[in-house]
Amino acid sequence: MGEKRTCTVLFEPSNASIEVAPGTLISAAASAAGVRINLPCGGQGRCGRCLVQVRAGHVARRASAKLPQELAQQGYALACQATIYEDAIVFVPAQEEMERVLVPVGGVSQKAAKAEQFLVPPEPEVQRCYVQLDPPSLEDNTADVDRLRRHLASQCGLAGVSLGLPVVQRLGRALREQGWRVTATVEQPREGGGLWLIDVAPGDAASRLYGVAIDIGTTSNVVTLVDLHTGKMLATASAYNAQISCGE
Ligand code: FES
Repeated sequence: MGEKRTCTVLFEPSNASIEVAPGTLISAAASAAGVRINLPCGGQGRCGRCLVQVRAGHVARRASAKLPQELAQQGYALACQATIYEDAIVFVPAQEEMERVLVPVGGVSQKAAKAEQFLVPPEPEVQRCYVQLDPPSLEDNTADVDRLRRHLASQCGLAGVSLGLPVVQRLGRALREQGWRVTATVEQPREGGGLWLIDVAPGDAASRLYGVAIDIGTTSNVVTLVDLHTGKMLATASAYNAQISCGE
């Protein structure tokens, strides 16, 4: 019997198949079969993100630090670094599933726990201040804006606060809703430019000051809710970044 001249590769879950010459890269076979495999590093074996699972048949894997031994033992291969030498069945995981393989369950919380070890006190550019205003009277009929500015200066040490029209429009209702007790959120840009009142809310909410940290990565986007008083991460959500199909 002569040497086998072509190999049949069946890709799952799409069930697309293709005949290729021995020595063909899995990524090239997939491309020829119309199966999309993301190659973020351009197929140079540097990112480890083109993971597929070989479920039948033999492939030759080039050694790569991006393919841990335990994943190789489970049949995983980097599509851009593995060549086909016999009929094979290759499973192409959805990107989200691949991320789970690469970042084991608990990986995100482990990372968060690690990050907490390096907690540094935050220095936010915004601060919240609870103010109790004297209500208007015949002797003191100052306008709401001036009344608040006066009390911000005397009670919080925030003199000369500016405010824009959206805050002015909410101010009257906020001041009266809880008997002239409000929480002011004031921004003080580090590069200067003075104090800006960016929000005013009825009642005492000064203990709650939150910020959002957004990490836009090539493969995933992560949003973290942070307590700006303590720097503690309160919640994290992440989603696959679909732009990866366009490259890194
Ligand atoms: S595309 Fe980056 S390792 Fe394969």
